[in-house]
Amino acid sequence: MERLQKVIANSGVTSRRKAEELILNGKVKVNGKVVLTLGTQVESSDLIEVNGVTIAKEDKVYYLLNKPREVIAAVSDDKGRKTVVDLIKEDKRIYPVGRLDYDTTGAIILTNDGEFANLLMHPKNEIDKCYVAKIEGMLNPKELMTLKKGVLVDGVKTRNARVKVRKTDKETNTSIVEITIHEGKNHQVKKMFEAVNHQVLKLKRERIAFLDLTGLKSGEYRKLNHKEVTTLYALAKNKEKK
Ligand code: URA
Repeated sequence: MERLQKVIANSGVTSRRKAEELILNGKVKVNGKVVLTLGTQVESSDLIEVNGVTIAKEDKVYYLLNKPREVIAAVSDDKGRKTVVDLIKEDKRIYPVGRLDYDTTGAIILTNDGEFANLLMHPKNEIDKCYVAKIEGMLNPKELMTLKKGVLVDGVKTRNARVKVRKTDKETNTSIVEITIHEGKNHQVKKMFEAVNHQVLKLKRERIAFLDLTGLKSGEYRKLNHKEVTTLYALAKNKEKK
């Protein structure tokens, strides 16, 4: 399901703001009925008419990008910094699914499919996101357990996480830790480690569900194939039913 004004804007007939005006002025019909409510949710099977003309639905596209450091995971940036969308040659209005910090690298999906993006982002759908963090110091068993069971991030307890120490380095007093979470709160991984008094020095997302970065150097991207997209849909939707 997607918001009506967004579907109209994505079809290329007009901007989202103009689409909102058209809806409020009674110029938009869904399945033959005038719809005056902004934000009405429509499905891909719904027939949408704007000023009496049926809109063509935009083809959906899906990309997996290996985000470099110093790139913003957004559609635009008010400070003029490079965004993940700038890295992909695509005329359609794509956007990132979820966020990665400016200094975080790794796997990020971009699409113009709002339903897909919402399904993947919703924590109840439990899509694994696997990060590798270089942290200051070493986790003791209690800290490890606390991270696994959930810590308070912005006053809300995080859900269960899988946490594994890959490597420790006594000389530099750092560790490499793998952490798999389902949520996507702002700066979640950094805040989780901060909650147990370890600073994250470097962060990379290595995997989203079954999608890893095999074959993608920093800054490179590829299209997801049909099977990958339908499997991701199925993974998220199965969880949604429970
Ligand atoms: N958690 C963070 O702290 N940063 C990210 O970029 C992603 C997850």
